[in-house]
Formats: sequence, structure tokens, C-alpha cells
Amino acid sequence: MEKYIIEGGIKLKGKVEISGSKNSALPIMIASLLTENKVVLYNVPKLKDIFTTIDIIEFLGKKVYWKDKSTVVIIQHRKPHKEKGFVVAPYELIKKMRASFLVSGALLANYKKVKAALPGGCAIGVRPVDIHIKAFEQLGVDHNIKGGYEVFVRKNLSSAVIKFSYPSVGATENVLMLASKIPQEVVIFNAAMEPEIVDLAEFLKKLGVKIEGEGSSFIKVVGCKNFISCDVEHTIIPDRIEAGTYAIACGITKGEIEICNVVAENLKALINKLRSSGLIIEIEDKKMYVSYKEKLKAQNIITRPYPYFPTDLQAQFMALMCTAKGASVIKETVFENRFLHVAELNRMGANIFVDGKKAIVYGVEKLIGAEVVVSDLRAGAALVLAGLAAEGISKVSHIYHLDRGYENFEQKLKFLGAKIKRIEE
Ligand code: EPZ
Repeated sequence: MEKYIIEGGIKLKGKVEISGSKNSALPIMIASLLTENKVVLYNVPKLKDIFTTIDIIEFLGKKVYWKDKSTVVIIQHRKPHKEKGFVVAPYELIKKMRASFLVSGALLANYKKVKAALPGGCAIGVRPVDIHIKAFEQLGVDHNIKGGYEVFVRKNLSSAVIKFSYPSVGATENVLMLASKIPQEVVIFNAAMEPEIVDLAEFLKKLGVKIEGEGSSFIKVVGCKNFISCDVEHTIIPDRIEAGTYAIACGITKGEIEICNVVAENLKALINKLRSSGLIIEIEDKKMYVSYKEKLKAQNIITRPYPYFPTDLQAQFMALMCTAKGASVIKETVFENRFLHVAELNRMGANIFVDGKKAIVYGVEKLIGAEVVVSDLRAGAALVLAGLAAEGISKVSHIYHLDRGYENFEQKLKFLGAKIKRIEE
């Protein structure tokens, strides 16, 4: 099992280049199942979840290869094999990554009978897909659950007015993909507004799908039975959560860094909170200069769907508040179990008290290095950041979670001066 050994107390300095967005690349690679044309995606990060997605879409009929450092070429559409007339997205692949349930929307756009393994929950929550299923029903898809699979049978796909009970990112993406081949109007109220939704919509428009309102809570889609028959090229947007993680890493280590290839517009909620805490942040085109000037002040945050404070930066921000002046109240409203990092931070000398959906972080003078265990991707990032700031040595285990979402994590941190190494133990 691999671990990070981190020697804390070093101020990060220098430049870091942000990779392509994991949460944009995943749905767009899955959306390539919609078309038989060649698809070329640029700025795709080399992450475990990306390789899992490649396994899934290759199982479902695509041939994928990396053309160079960070480009993925998806070509050679082949008919996926069927079992009793059903195209099957198997559990052994879906269980590796919950987001792969997104294949159901893409497959149902082309095939009448689809079986998709229900994704399990994960450390941060049960992660139901009821909002996805309800929307599919409205669009003309029958379904029932059999042996842990959603068994979908597409009747006549038709236009619908879909009202989401919650602005689910995945459900918005699934509906956009299924609607992309319905040549009538599909409307989504209370759609997710994340930048990754906008990126997926941009890709679908290149196939010939008409979409309006992406990035707002009201999206209108008019699909087309036959897509534009030409190759499609698309560049994945930068990863806003990776960028936010490095901005926080700069603050927690009292450093001064330049973050390149970042869309600051997509990080407004975090930037506002970091500036309120006393971190200096200057933006120039696709660069963000972050510098520490004085002891940071405690901040209260509430995580909510975009454009509010992102749940995917809650753990990292909590690590930052551990040594801020005063007490911070951090409310997690998106997932029901996303405080798994609290116990580990407290083992590093933090003083955090959890009360239901709220964590109260009482600022302490400093954190002390310790052996900690990663429970999920973003909690892991928080523990690495805490280790970079802590006095002494930290050992961070179960770092395979981090390989899912941070490309070249230790290399980028080392380039910023961090003393971090990956060992096999
Ligand atoms: C996406 O997950 C992201 N993953 C998550 O990032 C992110 O935390 C989340 O959106 C919220 O921003 C990818 O894009 C691959 P949701 P998703 O559907 O689509 C409930 C990371 O660290 N819900 O918006 O699964 C659900 O249980 C990951 O990169 C239902 O109840 O998020 C959760 O509490 C973690 N029923 C809330 O909505 C449904 O049918 C948000 O889920 C769907 C969701």
C-alpha cells in the first residue's frame, strides 16, 4: 500500500500548472458513446478515474488511445456486445467509479434496451440516482431494478418538462445526453449550473444538439436523430477543484505561488472566502497569484450547489481554518457524510467539533505531523495540505484515493518546494 511521507513547515513557492477537469472529462468521454464519429479530446488529465472511464467506454464499443501528453483520441465506434438484446454496463466496471452511471443516458439515446449496474454509495454518502431515474421515466424510459441493475427499456422518447427536486450534477448530465437524440424540446428546471455542465453542453453542441441556458438553472435541449457527421474536437476546461486545492495549499503553508491555466471565474466563492480570511489573491487572465501576508482570520462557509461554495473544497478549506485566528463554522449541505477528515485533522492537533451538518473549527497555534488515513479523494487532499503545514513528519496512507483526482500531485507539490515522497509500505 502506498503512502506519502511529508515533512511539514515549508512555504510553497513557485508555479503550478492546472490540469484538465476530471469532472468535465468524465461525462464528455462518456458522451462520446453518442456518436460514431471520431472524437479528439485535449487537456485530458491522466487520472485513475479517467483510465476507468476508458475501460468502460472500450467495453461499450469504443477504441481509445492517448495521442500525446494529455490528449485522448476516442475513435472506431463498434457496436457494443449485447446480452439477450440488452447493452450492459457491468457492475465490475461501474463499481470502480460511481460517475459511470452516466453511461445509461448516453446508451439509451442509441439503444432501446440497456442494463446499467446501480452504482454503490461511497464514503461521503449513499449517492442515490432517483433524480436520474425520474427524469428518464418522464422522457419515455421504463425501468425496474433487477439484481443490482437498473433494467431500462426505452419506449418512444418524447419531449418533457423536467423539474429536478435537487440540482444534481450527474442527473443534469445524464438528461442532457439522453435528450441529445430526441428531436423535440426537453426542458430542465432546477438544473445544475456547474462549469462542467457548460463544458458538456459545448461538446454536445458540436454534435449538432441545440442547447440553451447551460450554466443556468433552466436548460432547453432540442436533440437530433442524426448528428453532424464529422470528427469532433474538444478541449476540456481546467480543473477548478485542483486549482482551489493549490490556492489553499499556498495559504496553509504561508507561501506565495502562481497558479497557471485557471478560470478564476469558476472559483469566485472560494476566492471571496480566501480574500476575507486575509490571503492575497490577484487574477490576471488565466493566472492566479496567491500570497500569504498575515495570520488568517476564521471564516464561516456553507457548501451548496454552484455558484456557491463547492462541497469538493470543503475539506481543504477546513484544513486551512485549523490554524486561523478564531472559530470557523463549516456547514456541509450537499453530502450527508463529508466530515471524515475531521477525526484525522484532530489527530494532527486541530480542535474541531462536529454537530450534525456543522463542524466548528477552533483555530489552534499549529498542527503537529502524525500518521493519518485517507477516506476519500477530497479528505485526502485536506490531510496532505495539513501535513504540508504541520510541524514535523506526517505519514498519509490510502493515497490511492488521491490518484483518482489529482494529476502528478506529489510532483507538482515538490515543484513548489514541498518535501513529499511516495513510498510503498
Ligand atoms: C458530482 O457528483 C461530482 N462528481 C462530485 O465530485 C461533486 O461533489 C458533486 O457533483 C456535487 O458538486 C463528478 O462530477 C464525477 P450530485 P454527483 O448528483 O453528480 C444527491 C469529487 O470529489 N442526489 O449533484 O454524484 C446526492 O446524494 C466528486 O470530484 C440524490 O439524492 O453529485 C448528493 O447528496 C465527489 N439523488 C447531492 O444530491 C440523485 O438522483 C449532490 O449529488 C442524485 C443526487
